[in-house]
Parts: sequence; structure tokens; C-alpha cells
Amino acid sequence: MPDAKMAAAMGAYRIFVELCRDGCIVGIGSGSTVKRFIEVLDVGEPAVARSLYYATSVDTAIHLSSRGLRVLDVSMLMNEKLLPDVYVDGADEVSRELNLIKGGGGALLREKVLAYLSRRRIYIVDASKLVDVLGTRFPVPLEVVPYTLPLVTRSLESMGYMYRVRSGSGKLGPVVTDNGNYVVDVYTGPIRSPETLESKFMSIPGVAATGIFLRTLVDTVIVGFEDGSYKEVVRT
Ligand code: 5RP
Repeated sequence: MPDAKMAAAMGAYRIFVELCRDGCIVGIGSGSTVKRFIEVLDVGEPAVARSLYYATSVDTAIHLSSRGLRVLDVSMLMNEKLLPDVYVDGADEVSRELNLIKGGGGALLREKVLAYLSRRRIYIVDASKLVDVLGTRFPVPLEVVPYTLPLVTRSLESMGYMYRVRSGSGKLGPVVTDNGNYVVDVYTGPIRSPETLESKFMSIPGVAATGIFLRTLVDTVIVGFEDGSYKEVVRT
């Protein structure tokens, strides 16, 4: 049965093979759509087999390794000779201007670092992720240094925001990210200026990253549809 996430993943795979014919350095985001992308990688293809991969989460690293692919430690990103040529990730919301909300999987800080450092950033989404205005469906996640949590939540309250400290199942207490941080989901409602909100949240000490990915971190969005087709939207 056609699958919109798989359609987007196939679109990204075609671009990836074209860009990385003899292998390159690839950043890989997190989430269910990214898992489809990892599934469609043909490990017999030189572009795939000869590439080196950065993972934005332990989850993604496990999936890449299970396909026999070589995963670099994220500390290698600080070596300017080992920056990713291409980055592939999902998103929770995509606006008409190509601003994004990300972080549904709690990997926002590493995702932002990878997106910032990569030469070509490709996001794969199903059509349900397209919104007129950001903040319509998803809260904005903040990755927060644990001991600053009371400071961050007090600041959000004084700004008038509803929020929830993210918790999971299988363990009591807050979700702890792969960087040892907490995630606070902020219910912003429609976001008129993503740039202003990004600056506002980042002005709170203890916020390590927000899930607002401004369009400057986006080169291409591939939107998949249920009938198996996809369209490529390029930032102009
Ligand atoms: C993880 C993310 C994901 O890319 C985002 O939540 C989309 O996930 P999915 O593809 O499962 O819908 O930002 O932090």
C-alpha cells in the first residue's frame, strides 16, 4: 500500500544518490519518516556503502548500524574536514515560508547542530505536516539544561505561555535527551514571527535549543503523498 512517508523518503534517496555518487558524509535526523529513509538505502549502491553517517539520536545510530553503515561520533563534527555534505531529516510542521517545527522525537539540539553544519539540508514529510502558519498543531519543544528547569518554566509563565515538561512511558520522570537534557513543550498557538519567537525563547538562560528551525536551515522539503508521489520544494 502506498505510504506518504515512504514516498518522501524515496524522493530524498534519489537526490542523495545523485549528490553522493562515490560516497560522502551524511547527517541523518530522527523519527519515523527518517526510518523509512534508512530502510530504502540500498547498501549495495556505492553512494550508500562508501558514505559515512552522523546520527542525531541513539535511535537513528542503531538503525544505521543495523544496516551495516558506518556511524561517526558527533564529536567529529567539530573537525571542519568532516562536515556533512548532505543532511536528511523529518519535521513536525512545515510552513509556506519553509520554516519548521521539529523535535517531536526529542532530538532537536543535535538536529539543529547537524542542520547548521551541513551543506545541503533536505527534510522529508508527509503532506499532513504542511501548515499555513507554524504553531497551529504542534507545540514548540525547548531542550533545557536540567538544573535550569525552574528558571525556564518561571520565565515561560511570565511570558504567558502554557507548557508541559515532556515525560515518556517506561520510566518515571521527564524524558531525558541524548544530551542529558529535558524537553519542555510550549503551546504557543499560531506563530506570527518565528524569528522573534526563536530569539525570545533563546534569551532564557538554560534553553539549549528550540524546535523552531528557521528557513535558513532548510534547502529542500520533499512532501510525500498517499498515492506514492512526491513533490520537491526548494527554498528560493
Ligand atoms: C525528531 C524530529 C522528527 O523529525 C519529527 O518529530 C518528525 O517525526 P516523524 O517523521 O516521526 O513524524 O524532529 O526530533
